[in-house]
Amino acid sequence: MPSPHDPHKPAAPAPLTPPDGQYKTPLFDAMVALAESRKVSFHTPGHKSGKGISTRFRKFVGPKIFSIDLTTLDEVDSLQKPKGVIKEAQRLAALAYGADHSYFLINGTSGGVHAMLATACRPGETVLVARNAHKSVVTGLILSGASPVYFSPAFDPKLQLAVNVSRDEVKDAIAATPEARTLLITSPNYYGLCAELRPIIEHAHKQNMTVLLDEAHGPHLRFHKGLPISGLEAGADLVVQSTHKIIGGMTQASMLHAKAGHVNLDRLAQNLRLLQTTSPSYILMASLDLARMQMATEGEKLLETAIFLAEDARKRINRIPGLQCFGHHDHPHLDVTKLTIQVRDLGLTGFQVSQRLNSEYRVQAEMADPFHVLVIISIGDRKHDIDRLVDALQHIAKDSIQSTSDRPITNPGIPPAPGQRILTPREAFLADHHPIPLHESAGKTSAEVVTIYPPGIALLVPGEVITSETIEYICRLTDFGATIDGLDEGNTMIRTVK
Ligand SMILES: Cc1ncc(COP(=O)(O)O)c(C=O)c1O
Repeated sequence: MPSPHDPHKPAAPAPLTPPDGQYKTPLFDAMVALAESRKVSFHTPGHKSGKGISTRFRKFVGPKIFSIDLTTLDEVDSLQKPKGVIKEAQRLAALAYGADHSYFLINGTSGGVHAMLATACRPGETVLVARNAHKSVVTGLILSGASPVYFSPAFDPKLQLAVNVSRDEVKDAIAATPEARTLLITSPNYYGLCAELRPIIEHAHKQNMTVLLDEAHGPHLRFHKGLPISGLEAGADLVVQSTHKIIGGMTQASMLHAKAGHVNLDRLAQNLRLLQTTSPSYILMASLDLARMQMATEGEKLLETAIFLAEDARKRINRIPGLQCFGHHDHPHLDVTKLTIQVRDLGLTGFQVSQRLNSEYRVQAEMADPFHVLVIISIGDRKHDIDRLVDALQHIAKDSIQSTSDRPITNPGIPPAPGQRILTPREAFLADHHPIPLHESAGKTSAEVVTIYPPGIALLVPGEVITSETIEYICRLTDFGATIDGLDEGNTMIRTVK
């Protein structure tokens, strides 16, 4: 059955049964077997299965976790050169996700983004980049030396958000940049808004381009038909996912998936060896092995519950006066497990509502912006968690409408268009630079990546001319309480090329 949300999406793969091997967790099993064999260890890590760890740490987390905090040994294979249980765990991940090859990442999706760019682009080569990219894309451009040409998604005045790039925007950008051989897009965006991946990727492939997808927020998409199409189903060549953000990976544990064809897999493996540590955390890697098993064997059922909880919360939030939470009727390519709650009619900013949720109701949101609070619903949520969120929002809305409805929130405006690109990000980053006051920086070339965090999307990129519109926008956002990354502590100084 095709997805009700995305006509291009094939039905979710039937839960894979034991013959497919998806119930197996080869890496985790080998780790447990090694821990239980109680060998005497004269190797790293120095805490020696927890015997040397601080007592407070051991008391809090319990002793067992330290027995599987291992190092590269024959029994548990090597991430740098997998030929045993890690190789098998990665093969099972590739099978579950529909990739030709999958790689475990232990320094987050950022590391995978860096490896994708380093593999697809040579220094100086043009890469077409959708501007709603995370900071890791900019740092990947610095590392690879590639020369970006940006195109931006539209701003939706009703949602008060930048939506994802449309197929026409991508087609126009490709037509205007015929020298680009690589396209990098981010989908879903932080708010769960997805690009129309299938037609976009088909068009890019017809132009003989390699498509790199930052799918940090989409490691679950493949496993439920009610969610938008995943990058691999849509034909992307390299896809990186934050297993830790949305499903059962531990923080920093991500995956990179590759389709052979447009990509040189030898070079990709070489880049991963260069970028990843030689001492990877086995606990993080085991969490990838187990998260894949969980998704492949019961992902559909678990996601069904998460979607049900999210849709129920959305309905209840939309009944609260002053709050709106868009759904897939407003945006057909939405990951409905993300709740973007528009709060401007309360006379409060998203930052203020997020702070009140936290300090008064002990409810922690993922992110806030001037007009919204973003909540992620996942396979870890339960009905009582949703009730806590909705009750807290009801209280805040009631108080605020009574006390502040005559104080409209000023609009920080639309993120300004990027300034002219004078240098590549790498050239600007490596050039001599110095900090100058932000208010005197108009016309200078940025040597810094300046982002609002979260979501970590770049307002300024090394090599771009700083415009007065961008300076004003940054100042308005700081007044709102946004965290700006890439300026000094007081948000007054910026590094510019000398
Ligand atoms: C779209 C996107 N890409 C990449 C990243 C980087 O992921 P990680 O934190 O796993 O390195 C993030 C993190 O927030 C993100 O939102």
